[in-house]
Amino acid sequence: MIVAIDGPTAAGKGTLARLLARDLGFAYLDTGSLYRAVGLALLRTGHSPDDEAAAVAAARSLGSDLLTDPGLRDEATGNAASRVAAMPAVRAALLDYQREFARRPPGGARGAVLDGRDIGTVVCPDATVKLFVTAAPEVRARRRHLELSGRGEDVPFAQVLADLNERDRRDQARAAAPLRPAPDAHLLDTSDLAIDAALARAKAIIAGRM
Ligand code: C5P
Repeated sequence: MIVAIDGPTAAGKGTLARLLARDLGFAYLDTGSLYRAVGLALLRTGHSPDDEAAAVAAARSLGSDLLTDPGLRDEATGNAASRVAAMPAVRAALLDYQREFARRPPGGARGAVLDGRDIGTVVCPDATVKLFVTAAPEVRARRRHLELSGRGEDVPFAQVLADLNERDRRDQARAAAPLRPAPDAHLLDTSDLAIDAALARAKAIIAGRM
């Protein structure tokens, strides 16, 4: 059983996916962290996030050290991630790992929850349940701003909103696996939903498909 959760940045899909995996006893893969790790590898080695050869090399040799690096959540890493994510060869290098995780979830779990941008459209088009989680840009920027301040990153709100709009634009406009809801995805707008309400809705949708 595979639960695919897609949506734009800071829509609440990560929190939702983690809680769903916990409650269902499924394995969880945050696929954004793979793209972030590639972005971080480039920043750490002094490469430009637009250096495709370096990005592909990093994607092919991702190690667990980068995937658990606290720098993964930095704003600069997110921006670099969205640049490397537009490169088809980088996406191709990360595809098998994601599909294998979904097909054979680690730890013998009887299912997997994957979140990202193209899980329901490209990575797992046959997922049992697909959710597309959104929220208004200002709401998402407020959440992202709070998260960054909580970690001591003081980025002005206006810049967080501008970065988020730019990242949405890049994720939606790219030719390779653009961000869009799969035709059979259930839309979940979390603009006015607290996390427990969003979780309850997601569970009701999943229960209807099990
Ligand atoms: O979700 P998160 O903000 O961690 O993702 C970072 C970036 O990675 C996104 O802006 C997006 O460009 C890219 N991404 C992607 N496909 C995925 C997951 C993330 O293109 N499945």
